[in-house]
Amino acid sequence: MTVIVDRPHAAARPIAPLGDVVGAGQNVFTAAGPARYANLDYAASAPALTEVADGLNSALSQYASVHRGAGALSQVTTARYESARETVRRFVGGRADDTVVFTRNTTDAINLAAHALPGDVVVLDIEHHANLLPWQRTGRARIVLAAATFEETAEALEAELAVSPAALLAVTGASNVTGEVLPLRRLSALAHRHGARILVDAAQLVAHRPINLAGYGIDYLVFSGHKVYAPFGAGVLIGRPDWLDAAQPYLAGGGATARVDADGQTAWHTGAARHEAGSPNVLGAVSIAAALDAVKGTGFELIGYHERDLLTRLDEGLDRLPGVRRLHVFDDLADRVGIAAFTVDGHAPRAVAEYLNDRHGIGVRDGKFCAHPLLARLGHPEGAVRVSFGLGTGSGDIDRLISALAELVGA
Ligand code: ALA
Repeated sequence: MTVIVDRPHAAARPIAPLGDVVGAGQNVFTAAGPARYANLDYAASAPALTEVADGLNSALSQYASVHRGAGALSQVTTARYESARETVRRFVGGRADDTVVFTRNTTDAINLAAHALPGDVVVLDIEHHANLLPWQRTGRARIVLAAATFEETAEALEAELAVSPAALLAVTGASNVTGEVLPLRRLSALAHRHGARILVDAAQLVAHRPINLAGYGIDYLVFSGHKVYAPFGAGVLIGRPDWLDAAQPYLAGGGATARVDADGQTAWHTGAARHEAGSPNVLGAVSIAAALDAVKGTGFELIGYHERDLLTRLDEGLDRLPGVRRLHVFDDLADRVGIAAFTVDGHAPRAVAEYLNDRHGIGVRDGKFCAHPLLARLGHPEGAVRVSFGLGTGSGDIDRLISALAELVGA
């Protein structure tokens, strides 16, 4: 006799977290008593990896000024800071002559790029405000409305760049609202065909997919440490040196200057120092380097499998629930990082987020995600709920979310 044993559906197998994050497993208060906190808001700020905390502790034990002292610890700290630049360059496949500037975050990095912009910039309307407002403020931004498919959107970008040349195309690498990953090689080739450069907002991409600036032909890339498992206020702009060297220093102050005379004849540095006046955020830079090393150690192959399995479980769970509607921008883009945005019929996004936290100890983000034009074009000007995850997430977190939502909608 043949015994047929039911194999659990792939989506029902437990999926373990892929990384150890600081603070994992802590309890929070809920209406039903203490519950283990399920952090499903990585797209806003990912928790720090334990490797990052270790790297940070080691840097703190030898912490002194950067670029400003002959003392042994100053030299050690300066070496750590400069070596963090090289870690960034290697991680994103930067060119040898790319400038790596440490900024406060992605927003700051794009403001710096906008400050150095020598001509028009073309931007899609699906962007996070960080990749929209700095360009609009230059008065040189030309906004292209994304279409229902990426194919049509690429045609619209092509047409815009053909009608009138632009210096730059600025695009997101992955949407902070829906997680959809844009085809960057193709966009890079598209921009270059029309004599424009390309800047990629990789805030939601850099921890999730391998990037190769030189290989993809990306001219500038920006990201934040706090979305790549480094907890402090530091970000990165990496890219071609000429525009940055031609621009006025982003901040005027010590460290950016080669010579200062009392009569105002100042000689400014070129390179990263030109735009990093003041004592830099060395611990932020060290944290980013430790985080990138840890992500590299885990490897993008495993990260890809982990995210895909969790996303399948999340999508299938959400799609089973009556009245829960997932959002997407493009009908023809399949690749997504670990993000899903949705609405729940009859429930305001804030009420859903509060219910998940207050009753179940699940942290998600609700609202318009600093992407008001995108939410409006998706037909949800009042906002949505967003779930996002990463290395510290396991299937237990996703299952708790789905059963909490099932309870809410009475499924
Ligand atoms: N940019 C972050 C987000 O999308 C804060 O939530």
